[in-house]
Amino acid sequence: MANLMVLIFSSLAILSAIRGILAVDYTVTNTAANTAGGARFVRDIGVQYSLQTMNASTGFIWRTFQQTTPADRKTLQRVNLFIDDMDGVAYATGDQIHVSARYIQGYSGDVKREFTGVLYHEMTHIWQWNGNGQAPGGLIEGIADFVRLKAGYAPSHWVSPGQGDRWDQGYDVTARFLDYCNGLRNGFVAELNKKMRSGYSNNYFVELLGKTVDQLWKDYKAKYATAK
Ligand SMILES: *[C@@H]1O[C@H](CO)[C@@H](O)[C@H](O)[C@H]1NC(C)=O
Repeated sequence: MANLMVLIFSSLAILSAIRGILAVDYTVTNTAANTAGGARFVRDIGVQYSLQTMNASTGFIWRTFQQTTPADRKTLQRVNLFIDDMDGVAYATGDQIHVSARYIQGYSGDVKREFTGVLYHEMTHIWQWNGNGQAPGGLIEGIADFVRLKAGYAPSHWVSPGQGDRWDQGYDVTARFLDYCNGLRNGFVAELNKKMRSGYSNNYFVELLGKTVDQLWKDYKAKYATAK
């Protein structure tokens, strides 16, 4: 009986150690606290909400990418978010996300919702594969906005479905196109991201959807073409 208890307790200890190794930690650092944008971050968004959103978005991204086991995912111990006094909107590099306090300050409208959408986009950059550096930048940005779209955080200033000039234009244009492709085959973006773990080829579209990406773009444009 005593031996059984020891066995149970040591198993629990091992399990919790494994959980500790697999878990991702999140940090938030407001380096712009003494600026108007940094103050608005504290007032309208907050560290606690940011931590929750980093956690929730990571789970959402893993599900969207069908990464059900740790072996499917990038191995990262932690993701660090910084609110910085800088131009632009946000960027991700390595295990860091930087969001502009000036952007937060200048945003008119629901800044918490906008911040959430930006975080889903940047967090996707943290977790997505980039074809070993060979994937088109527009596709990388399009996948990040596709995840933002699927999470329900597409902002009103985005293009409508069918708009844009090229499939790899990036951001909202490519996100809308990927959403069309995903409608042709449920899980398409997840499959595409899986293929992008080791390299990139436009032929991935043919392998997954049976048509070249140029043909798919033509079909997509034709679907939304309306008499003007
Ligand atoms: C989110 O937080 C919960 C509760 O702390 C934790 O169990 C879970 O692993 C976290 N998910 C991610 C993706 O970090």
